[in-house]
Amino acid sequence: MPSIEQLPQPKLRTNTDIQGNVLAAFNKDFTDFRYLHFPDAAKGRGWLAAILNTVATTSETEDFNEQFSLARRAFGRDPVAAVVRCGVSLTFEGLLTVAVKPDQVRKDLSTFTAFCAGAAARAKDLGDTAESDPGHWLFGAGTGDKVVHAVLIVAADTDELLQEKLRNLDTVEQTHGIKRVHMDHGRTLTGAMKGHEHFGYKDGISQPGVKDFHREDPEHKGFRDNRAGSELIEPGEFVFGHKSEMGDRKAPAWMKNGSLQVVRRLRQDVAGWNEAVVDGVKQFTGTMDANRLGACLVGREKNGTPLAPPVSAVAGLGGDRNDFDYENDPVGEHTPWVAHIRRTHPRAFAGVGDHKPRSHRVMRRGIPYGPEFPGGADDGKDRGLMFVCYGTSLEAQFELVQRHWSNDPEFTPGLDTPTPHPHNGFDKVTGLAGHASIALADGTHGTVDMKRFVRTTGALYAFTPSISTLRLL
Ligand code: HEM
Repeated sequence: MPSIEQLPQPKLRTNTDIQGNVLAAFNKDFTDFRYLHFPDAAKGRGWLAAILNTVATTSETEDFNEQFSLARRAFGRDPVAAVVRCGVSLTFEGLLTVAVKPDQVRKDLSTFTAFCAGAAARAKDLGDTAESDPGHWLFGAGTGDKVVHAVLIVAADTDELLQEKLRNLDTVEQTHGIKRVHMDHGRTLTGAMKGHEHFGYKDGISQPGVKDFHREDPEHKGFRDNRAGSELIEPGEFVFGHKSEMGDRKAPAWMKNGSLQVVRRLRQDVAGWNEAVVDGVKQFTGTMDANRLGACLVGREKNGTPLAPPVSAVAGLGGDRNDFDYENDPVGEHTPWVAHIRRTHPRAFAGVGDHKPRSHRVMRRGIPYGPEFPGGADDGKDRGLMFVCYGTSLEAQFELVQRHWSNDPEFTPGLDTPTPHPHNGFDKVTGLAGHASIALADGTHGTVDMKRFVRTTGALYAFTPSISTLRLL
């Protein structure tokens, strides 16, 4: 059997038009976000032209990632060379500002309702109310020179490289008279928390595979078609101008090889979460402790082990940490319906209306910000997740996941027949305050009421153009 390196190269793997980070993750420990305002068209265009050469392509991003994993597999260490990668996106207002024919752009985008409205206008529908209301946001809801036109992501393997690049970008901003609305500093956590988010759970495990970009793994690990956790789905779900699952992701020619980007600055109340999982145990009959309750709310243990029984193990194929589809757990006795990973990706139960289950996936590119929580009582420090995702439909992908799957307690990510199943509630990781009902296979059951642990402190919808479209602006 050939090893994965010997298999033919997928077409998109060497693409030099799609920006890096859309299909191939930057995966950097030091990632800054700059939200910028263009005072006028000439300044915006000048700045874009000046940074164009620093924008990373899919090909170079994936080359690095491949060398990185080869070095780890072959030599058991990370490659020594450190790199810096940039990505740029434009909001609806940003596109209108720099476009030569803004009226045409407006017309071209008339069916992209959520994108044109912007994240702040959609906030209420997505549950961004009370403390998460746009009135409290650090960016994404401002007026005048606080309107964000561009999002610049600068990602580096070392802090020194990042700072060097930022100094260079400072000069470019000053030269072109660009105003900075806000900055965020994404940093992976360190030591035992490396790769984990602030609540303590391993993140970045389940991602969709993309046809023509990822290869099917002959050893049945990693991506494989027809496997709910790691299936290969059509590239048009993430990049315009390619085949999509539904064939419905139509866009004008200038959007080809581009993608829609969601940026959400999500502040996490870690002390509140820790307290709630300890207190919540009292509401359960059976065998429950804080670790088990936390795992039930996420769907995985802190080390990333899923609560779901693997599917492939049954067929003698081994299986890995993403090898499950909930089909063997229709009522949530292993992975409760309230679990974050089950609500945000119900796998076998993801068909919505006429849509195919694979048409609601998002490509996640999040990174924590703020200091690691030291434990104990709330220290008042601002920490959370810079949630970033890419896709070609805000409505059918990110918004559906957040509004319907996470926030709607009536949504049933399982088998709801013959009578409505009572085991339900809110996604407590990203959803609203409310109840979480859990009933496990060993008879342990209970319902807890919990406050909201994650609040939105900034949000944007932007378009990540292809390199060739950036050249035309
Ligand atoms: C998976 C945490 C926000 C969508 C996960 C996982 C963790 C996690 C620990 C499991 C690891 C993995 O499978 O990669 C968080 C935290 C958040 C947050 C702490 C906020 C502070 C969001 C948001 C969305 C989202 C806003 C989208 C609306 C997903 C999806 C998965 C996931 C789609 C993969 C589910 C699967 O395929 O099994 N998240 N998340 N998350 N999250 Fe989140």
